[in-house]
Formats: sequence, structure tokens, C-alpha cells
Amino acid sequence: MQVRIFENAEQVGKAAALLFASQVTRKPNSVLGLATGSSPIGCYQQLIAWHKEGILDFSECISYNLDEYVGLDIEHETSYHAFMKAQLFDHINMKETNLPDGNAEDLVAEAKRYDAAIEAAGGIDMQLLGIGRNGHIGFNEPADKFVYGTQIVDLTESTIDANTRFFENKDQVPRKAISLGIGGIMNAKEVVLIAMGADKAQAIHDTVYGEIDPQVQASILRSHPHVTILVDKAAASLL
Ligand code: GLP
Repeated sequence: MQVRIFENAEQVGKAAALLFASQVTRKPNSVLGLATGSSPIGCYQQLIAWHKEGILDFSECISYNLDEYVGLDIEHETSYHAFMKAQLFDHINMKETNLPDGNAEDLVAEAKRYDAAIEAAGGIDMQLLGIGRNGHIGFNEPADKFVYGTQIVDLTESTIDANTRFFENKDQVPRKAISLGIGGIMNAKEVVLIAMGADKAQAIHDTVYGEIDPQVQASILRSHPHVTILVDKAAASLL
């Protein structure tokens, strides 16, 4: 696990973009694992800028996102479908983009379908991750065990509180989500985790130094052979 500490959030975003840009340059038909949240926005803006300059071409790339809320209209501006369109997909030329369907009638079948689709695509080459304040990755919340496959999760109070800022009020935040499981994340050939701000400092500390513990789901990354953690000074303040 490599940890790189940057002066500020903007640099973290650009450093993450560098890794994704080199991945796509090296392997034009990469399968990219993408994430939502505020953390990846700077990275996406840099990728868009390089695409617009003609440096980066995504026309052979396929992407799979980590997660989506359950029961939220994908047209809703805070759905992860809408977020990805607005922040990235509308501005680049990705060949194919995928997110789990949080409105599927049979969510268990949808979870299986999503895992099978990723496998059929050859697996994820590079996975981008943010991290929750409680150490979650994707929407894999603190638990007694790590769940391998894509799963339907009950969001914790801490996550609902953190994500209320994207909605009009707390009551509007969906209580459930569908998320790529820990196995799906660990199967990625390379993982890039980014975190900014002091409210991520404890989660980053526990990920880097703590025991591998499902109460801090990101700690499993310690056993992944190719992980790069990019943080700003505030998120690194407990390292
Ligand atoms: C959300 C997402 C995660 C994301 C995390 C952090 O709940 N499901 O994939 O990493 O929260 O979000 P942010 O980057 O906005 O702090």
C-alpha cells in the first residue's frame, strides 16, 4: 500500500487523474471502476480537461460504478446515475458506462447480474474509491464481516447524516443502497483511494495502521497487492 500526502485537495484530484490517465493511455480498452461523492470531482474535472485537449480518449473504455441508492429515480439529481452523467459521462467519450440498478424489481438478481457483467468484461483494471467517515468503501458499511458480492445495504446513521447535504433534508436520503461488494473491489487489478479533509483522518488512520477489521471496511485494502492512497494534509493528519 503506497500512501502519498499532498498539500491540498486539488492536488489529490490531479494526482488521481494522472493515474487514471496513464491507465487509459497504456490500455485504451480499460475497464474503469468509478466512484461518486465529492472526493472524485477534481479528478473527473482533470480527466475532462485532458479529454477536451485531445490528450485522453475513452472511446474503448468501459466503466462500472460502485453503487447507487435503492428506490431513487435515476433522473433525480442526487442519484448516482445523474451525478456521473453531470460530473463525467456527459463530457467524455466513454464507450459504455454501467451502474447498478437501484430500482430493479429483484435487487438480489440485479446484484448477481452486476457481478457477472464485471466478470464478463474481464474485471476492473483500476478502481477509484472515496472513503466514508466510518471507513466505508462503496456503500459497504461497518459490519461483522466483509461481504464478497454486490449487496443491498442498510445505510448507517453516519452515512445518512453525511449524505444529507446532497438532499433537501435528511428524510429524503434513501435508507438503502446497492453496492459492489468487497470481493468486487478487491478483484480490481489496481485500486486508487482518495480522501480529503479532516473528517476522513480517522478512517484513513484506521485503514493504514489498524487491524484488518470489517468495522473499517477499507482496512481490507491492506491485503490488496496494488493500492495507492492519495490524501491531502488534513486527511493525513493522524498518520
Ligand atoms: C458515499 C459513497 C462512497 C463515497 C463516500 C464519501 O456514501 N457511497 O462511495 O466514497 O460516500 O463521499 P465524499 O467523497 O463525498 O466524502
